[in-house]
Amino acid sequence: MTATETTDTALRTVTLNVNGQTIRQEVESRTLLAYALRDAGLKGTHVGCDTSSCGCCVVLIDGDTPAKSCTMFAVQAEGHQITTVEGLGSPGDLHPLQQAFWDQHGLQCGYCTPGMLMTAKAMLEHNPDPTDQEVREFLSGNLCRCTGYNNIVKAVQQAARVMRDEAQAQALAGMVPGTGPSTGPSTGPSTGPSTGPSTGPSTGPSTGPSTGPSTGPSTGPSTGPSTGPSTGPSTGPSTGPSTGPSTGPSTGPSTGPSTGPSTGPSTGPSTGTAGGGAQ
Ligand code: FES
Ligand code: FES
Repeated sequence: MTATETTDTALRTVTLNVNGQTIRQEVESRTLLAYALRDAGLKGTHVGCDTSSCGCCVVLIDGDTPAKSCTMFAVQAEGHQITTVEGLGSPGDLHPLQQAFWDQHGLQCGYCTPGMLMTAKAMLEHNPDPTDQEVREFLSGNLCRCTGYNNIVKAVQQAARVMRDEAQAQALAGMVPGTGPSTGPSTGPSTGPSTGPSTGPSTGPSTGPSTGPSTGPSTGPSTGPSTGPSTGPSTGPSTGPSTGPSTGPSTGPSTGPSTGPSTGPSTGPSTGTAGGGAQ
């Protein structure tokens, strides 16, 4: 060793956030991230060359930046979110890329596959609809000695289609209000069942209090107009059948006690005025 060369083999503790989990590890300052990950039991990160050539060791830094973990020290990864292939999916719930590599025979020995998957994921984050040429260029730092690459490109394109369809379906679901069940308060129109309070119009069943107009069945208290059947107390006008107590005007049949004016038939006790029917 020359006078200018130094060595630092003293252990230090690094705290790594990997796949959403905190890992504390004793490493030397020269320990490469790839080896720190593998020492932590994450053997999906492969080491094929140790010289930044093959791409087997690619992981994602902070979600969408691919990095060859053989070219990065573990201590440099502190404070960053690291995603390895173990964080991509699980055997029972494959990521679309993993499923596509399976479907399209995008691997043979599989040694390059973790790096291919992570690099492809980073590319699709930035370019969800790549051309075949763009896929080849983005994966040019990942070597595969088995497949000839054609099936890898097909797999990435399949995954891109699936991920675009999923994103579109999620965007559409977010644009249609009130079609799913709700347990929280609502001020907009709703066609799904609701257990929370509502101030907007409702056509679905409701068990929470309502101040808006309702055409669906209701078991909660209501102060808004109602044309649907009701079993809860009501202070608003009602044209639907009611079995709950009512203090508002009613033109529908009622079997519950009523203190409001009524023009419909009633089989319950009433202390209000009768505007129709037998007097
Ligand atoms: S092991 Fe990192 S690029 Fe080959
Ligand atoms: S599948 Fe064997 S190296 Fe790529």
